[in-house]
Amino acid sequence: MSKEDNLNENWKKDFPIKKQESTQVSRRDFAKFLTFVSGGLMVGSGFVTAKAYLLPKEEVMGEHFICNKEEVPVGGTRGFVIEGSAIPYILIHLESGDFRAYEQKCTHLSCSVFYKPGTGIIHCPCHEGSFDAMTGDVIAGPPPRALPQLEVFFKDAGVYVKAISENKNS
Ligand code: FES
Repeated sequence: MSKEDNLNENWKKDFPIKKQESTQVSRRDFAKFLTFVSGGLMVGSGFVTAKAYLLPKEEVMGEHFICNKEEVPVGGTRGFVIEGSAIPYILIHLESGDFRAYEQKCTHLSCSVFYKPGTGIIHCPCHEGSFDAMTGDVIAGPPPRALPQLEVFFKDAGVYVKAISENKNS
């Protein structure tokens, strides 16, 4: 027996697993994998929910220029962030002519929401949540509360936002 044959024989003795067996996944291993992935998703969702409820809300201070009116056509939107913040917002030019600005994070599990032109609905694709684009109120799905809103106002042709004043909420 050559040295090479001898090596092959020793190798097979040390690792007595056939190629076919090495690529098979047992039901038990597959169940373990599913449990691991499901557990990870549950922990991730729990973290996002806890963060949304427990961390103090960032306040928007002052007035912020977003864009000029003509840059957002009727039915159009524009995403923006306030300087110094990481919260994404969406400016919507509704078909009624009104402008609205909301946080672009769903109040359920923080997925990005988007405006469906011509429907008056802001939609969340993650769990089919829907919000009224005029008020931000929940109209369908699991979101527990309305989308946080900013007050939109104009100076000449400019569109600005600021924190919504208290008397507007009541
Ligand atoms: S994250 Fe929006 S409905 Fe669940």
